[in-house]
Amino acid sequence: MHLKDKVILVTGGTSGIGEACTELFARHGAQVVTMSIQEEQGTALARRLQAEGLSCQFEYGDTSREDDVQSIVARTVERLGQLDCVHANAGILRNQRITDLTLDDFYALINVNLLGPVLIAKHAIPVMERQGRGVICFTTSVAAEIGFPGHAVYCASKAAVVALMRCLTTDHSPRGVRFVAVSPGTIDTPMLAASCAGWDTPKEELYAQVARKIPVQRMGQPLDVAQAVAFLLSDEAGFINGSVVHLEGGTLCLPPW
Ligand SMILES: NC(=O)c1ccc[n+]([C@@H]2O[C@H](COP(=O)([O-])OP(=O)(O)OC[C@H]3O[C@@H](n4cnc5c(N)ncnc54)[C@H](O)[C@@H]3O)[C@@H](O)[C@H]2O)c1
Repeated sequence: MHLKDKVILVTGGTSGIGEACTELFARHGAQVVTMSIQEEQGTALARRLQAEGLSCQFEYGDTSREDDVQSIVARTVERLGQLDCVHANAGILRNQRITDLTLDDFYALINVNLLGPVLIAKHAIPVMERQGRGVICFTTSVAAEIGFPGHAVYCASKAAVVALMRCLTTDHSPRGVRFVAVSPGTIDTPMLAASCAGWDTPKEELYAQVARKIPVQRMGQPLDVAQAVAFLLSDEAGFINGSVVHLEGGTLCLPPW
């Protein structure tokens, strides 16, 4: 996979899937700009990778704020001269049945999970079209395709990202920009761990139960997703466009009984 010298912006790049992506892309020789709302983790991650001689800069920013997104894209291009790839990965999870939904939770989910990717696309695409090349990978979820109990708005936000990605493909790929999405199943990250809070069963037992249900008999690791995204962003994946790649160990193949 050739990511060497590519300038890659990763949103939500300082925890879980995004952190693994940031580290793997940097190890492949990319110039990574990783952004999130985790100042301390972001600074520490960038320092750790820089200490190994790898290229990684942290930018503090909220993907649901247009000023933040616009200025991070502009600073990236100003400092590094180009923007080859974006991994629009930042996301949040909220758990509640629709009858208990507060509008604050609704807007939080939609602002981070849908408006964030929209803003990233809005500001990255003009740069990529000027260059005549670029790739944007979105992180959606298998939750876009299944009735994930108690997560109706989260599921809807992730399904919307798939629709967004497909429309961008028809609108902008003729001018050199490729779009893909990764759809993880159950991945062992801080987000997943936080979702176990409030259950009577300890997290380890819950994880073991989930792993037994997945055809490959294990949960996913952030690196499983990062390796797939690294390939999708590379030139070797140049004919993969408008596609959703599922990373779920076969969960979606299971019969409904
Ligand atoms: N873990 C899973 O099982 C799983 C499954 C399917 C999809 N996903 C999706 O993968 C993505 C990454 O999730 P994760 O499990 O690594 O979670 P995580 O909580 O470990 O990481 C989320 C990252 O997003 C950042 N973030 C949150 N709100 C932000 C904002 N407004 N602006 C900028 N950054 C923000 C956080 O700071 C963090 O770096 C999310 O989009 C999530 O919905 C996760």
